[in-house]
Amino acid sequence: MKIQPINKDSKAQVDDWIDMRLKLWPEHTRDELADEASQLGDVIQVWLAYNDDQPVGFIEAGTRSVIEGSYDGPGGFVEGLYVGQDYRYHGIAKQLVEAVEAWAKQQGYTVLGSNAEIDNETSDKFHKAIGFREVDRTINYLKDL
Ligand SMILES: CC(C)(COP(=O)(O)OP(=O)(O)OC[C@H]1O[C@@H](n2cnc3c(N)ncnc32)[C@H](O)[C@@H]1OP(=O)(O)O)[C@@H](O)C(=O)NCCC(=O)NCCS
Repeated sequence: MKIQPINKDSKAQVDDWIDMRLKLWPEHTRDELADEASQLGDVIQVWLAYNDDQPVGFIEAGTRSVIEGSYDGPGGFVEGLYVGQDYRYHGIAKQLVEAVEAWAKQQGYTVLGSNAEIDNETSDKFHKAIGFREVDRTINYLKDL
């Protein structure tokens, strides 16, 4: 298993990343996810997990100015995390988060935030198993103006 930062100059790696984004966010089209990814540019950091040459997971992380539950100012934030069904429970997501932790520390951050859909029990158990603590539960609202 290899965890590596994405090389965005590699079309093959970007394709692998977008394919997995589509698995994580199937409510979007591949084109939408590819457009968003290219617009995000360097705002997000991406690591890919490969088993031999097979892409098996990814993590996206960035900086948020406020991290819920912390008064320490800006911190790192996990924006997306996915491991393929056949590769779960092998510690891959944990290693992906560790790559983000190392990056966040390098940036001088003292906290790493993350979130999940309120009914995503897998994600809840995963986060708690690797040392995150729950700080609150929210519902997002929107009003058209
Ligand atoms: C959540 C997800 C990324 C976990 O990936 P994974 O590679 O299987 O996780 P790991 O093997 O690194 O697990 C790390 C720890 O979490 C625990 N864990 C992972 N999934 C779990 C589950 N469904 N229930 C209970 N514990 C779980 C593992 O047992 C392990 O604990 P341990 O170190 O005490 O043994 C993966 O299930 C996934 O991609 N799910 C669909 C997308 C998703 O929900 N993403 C997260 C959105 S925030």
